Amino acid sequence: MSTYPFTRLRRTRASDWSRRLVSESVVMRNDLIWTIIITDAKEKRTSIPSMPGVDRVNLDEVVSEAKKARDLGIPAIALFPNINPKYKSDCASEALNPNGLIPKAVSAIKAAVPDLGIIVDVALDPYTTHGHDGLIEDNKILNDASVEILAQSAVILGKAGADIVAPSDMMDGRVASIRESLERAQLSDVMIMSYAAKYASSFYGPYRDAIGTSSSLVGDKRTYQMDPANSDEALREVEQDIIEGADMIMIKPGMPYLDIIKRIKDEFRMPTYAFQVSGEYSMLKAVSQNKWLDEKKIVMESLTSFKRAGCDGILTYFAPQVADWLNH
Ligand code: PBG
Repeated sequence: MSTYPFTRLRRTRASDWSRRLVSESVVMRNDLIWTIIITDAKEKRTSIPSMPGVDRVNLDEVVSEAKKARDLGIPAIALFPNINPKYKSDCASEALNPNGLIPKAVSAIKAAVPDLGIIVDVALDPYTTHGHDGLIEDNKILNDASVEILAQSAVILGKAGADIVAPSDMMDGRVASIRESLERAQLSDVMIMSYAAKYASSFYGPYRDAIGTSSSLVGDKRTYQMDPANSDEALREVEQDIIEGADMIMIKPGMPYLDIIKRIKDEFRMPTYAFQVSGEYSMLKAVSQNKWLDEKKIVMESLTSFKRAGCDGILTYFAPQVADWLNH
């Protein structure tokens, strides 16, 4: 066995070329999924105070953003709606409108940029008056009734042209139900990226500002999203979703859950993604704006850590910025 002074681990670190040769994880444009928030506003862009640098975009502007994604070499975008309060209801009926904001955006983007992957969230929270991901009865979030609507909604999104539907609701059995409904609707090419291990996290705050649910959300989501204290349970969640037909799985949030990403990738070897959520974006952005840390360096380090933990890709609000850095 060779040891110091014969082994010197600093040798390979001594120059840039050899550091490049031994580097194990690399962030590429192909790893990026750009998360975009859409509104039906007249203004092309409206700012989100808790997410400096990220705007909500309207239908015209989202098509320009999609072209930008393609030009930057980003493989796919993920869309999230800020639904006009006048369309919200207790039963989330707008989620089943084939001419709603997201279906319209998906078909417009597909027509303009056919070779860009489009991922859409399957969730009820943008559409419910109470901001929960499921229907409520007697203060309880109903599982099976919510799953039925989610499955119908996935079919509408698939018909509009979505390539990947991403259920983010954490109801039990939704992946199976969505897969079955897609098959019945002859949408067998539509993929499912399940938010398999989604935690009841406080890092979603800025997103709820962005989609306009912060002020309306009653209570919290702990009866369906996971307890941040749990790790074994994440494996059970993922296993279920794989058995039910998920093509890809996601862990969310990202950076505080790198241990979960690593365990899941090691256990299942599935295409595995992390969502660097709004709160993570806002933290990194705030320290950068204060010039307390260097934005480019911390963002690239955070994305490298996702790759090192085993991610095949990352959903991030930084995607266009990162693609631009990588292109120069
Ligand atoms: C809800 C959903 C959430 C996010 C994506 N889909 C938030 C929540 O569960 O309340 C969070 C995204 C982010 O924070 O960037 N279906």
